[in-house]
Amino acid sequence: MAKRFYVTTPIYYPSNILHLGHAYTTTIADILARYKKSQGYEVFFLTGSDEHGQKIAKSAAAKNLEPKAFVDQIVAEFKDLWAKLKIDYTHFIRTTDESHIITVQKIFSTLLKQGDIYLDKYQGWYCVSDEEFVTDLQIDKATNTCKNCGGKLIELAEESYFFKISAYSQKLLAYYQEHPTFIFPESRKNEMINNFIKPGLTDLSVTRTSFTWGVPVLENPKHVVYVWIDALSNYLSALGYLQIDDSNFQKFWVDEECEIVQLLGKEITRFHTIYWPILLMSLNLRQPNSILSHGWIINDEGKMSKSKGNIIDPRILIERYSADALRCFLIKEISFGSDGKYSHEGFLNFFNAYLVNDLGNLLSRILTMISKYSDSKIPKFENKEIKKYQSELIFDFQTTIKDFQITMDQYQVTDAVEVVWKLIAKLNKLIDDIKPWDLFKNQQTAELNNVLNLFANGLMIISILLAPILVDASSKMQEQLGVQPTSTLSPEFDLNSIAGSQVDKKELLFKRLDVQVELDYLNSK
Ligand code: ME8
Ligand code: MG
Repeated sequence: MAKRFYVTTPIYYPSNILHLGHAYTTTIADILARYKKSQGYEVFFLTGSDEHGQKIAKSAAAKNLEPKAFVDQIVAEFKDLWAKLKIDYTHFIRTTDESHIITVQKIFSTLLKQGDIYLDKYQGWYCVSDEEFVTDLQIDKATNTCKNCGGKLIELAEESYFFKISAYSQKLLAYYQEHPTFIFPESRKNEMINNFIKPGLTDLSVTRTSFTWGVPVLENPKHVVYVWIDALSNYLSALGYLQIDDSNFQKFWVDEECEIVQLLGKEITRFHTIYWPILLMSLNLRQPNSILSHGWIINDEGKMSKSKGNIIDPRILIERYSADALRCFLIKEISFGSDGKYSHEGFLNFFNAYLVNDLGNLLSRILTMISKYSDSKIPKFENKEIKKYQSELIFDFQTTIKDFQITMDQYQVTDAVEVVWKLIAKLNKLIDDIKPWDLFKNQQTAELNNVLNLFANGLMIISILLAPILVDASSKMQEQLGVQPTSTLSPEFDLNSIAGSQVDKKELLFKRLDVQVELDYLNSK
């Protein structure tokens, strides 16, 4: 039975260029996708752009462009960023794709026919910046703004189609109960239950009549489908749902064996853990395995967002410090599930401490010793006179490999990278404790050979485990170790499979940064 994995990011609004927050979600999805591939899964990794709605129409008008011409330019920037960040997606969906529009219209018709969608009138408040109808809880009454983004609210009184969300409350609660790992983190699930489901779900307005930049309702073309039904359907339309060729839909959605993981930021949890599962229920489709609702990247002004004007363009960091450095920073320094702070200083210090000192130094120290003491060849591990610290280290290798797998299988990317860093720290310390240079001086050749072999194996393990994160550095490590590039590893690996390899110490993996110089550079950008 083929193992399959479907991973998605939100489709981002092309109202503006993307920032570090968007890079964060997409990096995690890419890391999970690369990891699953290394585990033999067939992977479908979806990202894209959410191109309809009032917010886009307004941004385009401000630039004197037709909406489609406007978003075309920005989508090109999205793709450029993903290429630079080494994001290896399978498909990039745009909600203006003809095939997507067809799926949305068919979904709408299905729900209308079965009575899950009905015509009525909407009266209430709308946040254009977040493209959502806000509930009482989300309104800052004093200023009449959206508590989530600070944007001005507009009052709407429009004829609208409604989705009968209220009919599904009990079914949704039961689903949560039966699937305790459906929503991560747990706290977000409780928030949904207490703030939205228990007080009573209200039916959701799903069409608008006051603008036209959207998917027309076939049955009543003065209505366009309001962004969220359009947007959420992307996860199905991208697979060919209700289209002529739906083979990917069969493989990556219908097949219960396919593991489906959806990533998003916490501000859109309600859409993905209430409206989305209910949409799937009403279409009689299975649910994803996990909805991972991560925290925000914040800085001194709060959540990083275009409306706050506190955004960082990830390309500046990638171009100067590498995609690897940014990818690793994002998952290591922002604890998955919680909010995490970004500052240039924090990033630069991370770079020096973890990439230069810990990882880069470890590689360079070990390669230097192998070239000096073993004529640049990785020695064989002799299964005799094994010292206690050596067998302990072998045990550590095995635990590292297993723990990495366990945490990654639970999508806990921050924990997984910490597992590897523990081994890096351990090896650095062991070099100081064992002092291989003394073993060399005292001609303790057997012990020296064994320990150098183990160090090289340690590097090998680190390079393989970190491959989904440090895409380039990992293969550079293997190149310098003189081994064939590989991305797979089993806990029962053979220590001597790399013995005899010719190491080749080349340029440093990461060069130390002068924090002050770099701060000046970044602040000038
Ligand atoms: O909400 N920290 O699009 P969007 C962490 N089109 N992640 C962040 C972030 C931050 N400061 N800022 C943005 C939309 N993100 C809809 C989605 S999906 C069917 C439709 C990330 O352009 C995070 O993933 O506002 C967040 O959920 C997403 O970008 C919002 O992107
Ligand atoms: Mg947003």
